Amino acid sequence: MAKNLKILLIISGGIAAYKSLELIRILKKNNIKVQVILTKGGEKFVTALSVAALSEEKVYQDLFSLKDETEMGHIRLSRENDLILVAPASANIIAHAAAGISNDLATTVLLASNKPIFFAPSMNVEMWNNPITQKNIKFLKDNNFNFIGPDSGDLACGETGDGRMSDLNTIYEYITSTIIKKKIKLNILVTAGPTYEVIDPVRYIGNKSSGKQGIEIAKAFHKLGANVKLVLGPCRESIPKDINTINIETAKDMYKEIKKINKIDVAICAAAVSDWSIDNPSNVKIKKNNKNKPKLNLSLNPDILEYISNRKNNRPKLVIGFAAETDNLIKNAKEKLSKKNCDWILANDISKNPEIFGGNNNTISLITKNNVDNWSTYSKKEVAEKLVNKVIENI
Ligand SMILES: Cc1cc2nc3c(=O)[nH]c(=O)nc-3n(C[C@H](O)[C@H](O)[C@H](O)COP(=O)(O)O)c2cc1C
Repeated sequence: MAKNLKILLIISGGIAAYKSLELIRILKKNNIKVQVILTKGGEKFVTALSVAALSEEKVYQDLFSLKDETEMGHIRLSRENDLILVAPASANIIAHAAAGISNDLATTVLLASNKPIFFAPSMNVEMWNNPITQKNIKFLKDNNFNFIGPDSGDLACGETGDGRMSDLNTIYEYITSTIIKKKIKLNILVTAGPTYEVIDPVRYIGNKSSGKQGIEIAKAFHKLGANVKLVLGPCRESIPKDINTINIETAKDMYKEIKKINKIDVAICAAAVSDWSIDNPSNVKIKKNNKNKPKLNLSLNPDILEYISNRKNNRPKLVIGFAAETDNLIKNAKEKLSKKNCDWILANDISKNPEIFGGNNNTISLITKNNVDNWSTYSKKEVAEKLVNKVIENI
């Protein structure tokens, strides 16, 4: 998920600097390019040789390097990376950053940067609690600098309290998810739930869709900071308040709402939209009458997936449909993909797994024009996360 990221890591002079060697390894293992600045303090704790060997990159230490500064190295280092991570962040480098002092390469890059900056502090508990450190941190936080940790516990100096550098996986998760947030300013349309086709004011024709899978997909994109619009048929699931949700009842309502949305980068049509609607629904409740049974005439509804897939000017970059089939799963899903002109179909065989409706798990085959990828059974939340990853890799 984090591939293609470039991180500038500043290792400053704290005892936790040795952990940053392992952090470089974790970042590299996840295909992240890491360039490192080692401060004067940092080089007392880890060697430039270890850093260079692990990062497989040149290590930067000198502000006044004749070679690097012919290309304005202190500017270039921030411009060519996606973010700057200071780990460990000493009390000293935090104080310099807060004061705008730039008397070495690391602090000059921090001051000249136009990229998100993350500090993972590590220091003695008294240094951490010192009102000067706390004032510096508050000032930096107020000015959009990010802080990860510190944790509380036994410290290298033998004392106990706040000041341990955060666990390396926490640092990794934090920076990768935040950068992804910034990377995917995507406009996502998700449809979910059933539609109800009105017979009279109390009766309708509906279907068994719970809306759970589509809602999990909307939540997974929302969590990453994407701009999500959820067009939702009637269902009992609770939706986080901050997801932009448009509630509809009928297929025609859904179609009308979607036509109003112009900018969609990715459309995921998970709703079970009724194929038919009832002509002339009654305005009053139809009375029970054996002699005069109501006759329901049906008309085809607009096909929403087909409409989105064939938009002329503003077709989304990726249109994803769902197919719930009781037989010939792959064949039917492939036909649907080509007939509707969408890009992917997530197909599930509802004959084998009746629990899919309303249940928490799903078994999906992801069908694209040239491939069929059979996923194992996952929770609907996991399916959503897998799908988000696939979308990000392909968009
Ligand atoms: C053995 C030793 C351990 C230190 N550990 C830390 C530490 O964990 N955190 C910290 O903020 N400073 C620590 N310091 C103090 C910094 O190394 C010192 O403030 C230095 O000027 C930081 O330089 P830099 O911020 O440019 O890397 C330590 C000093 C020594 C001698």
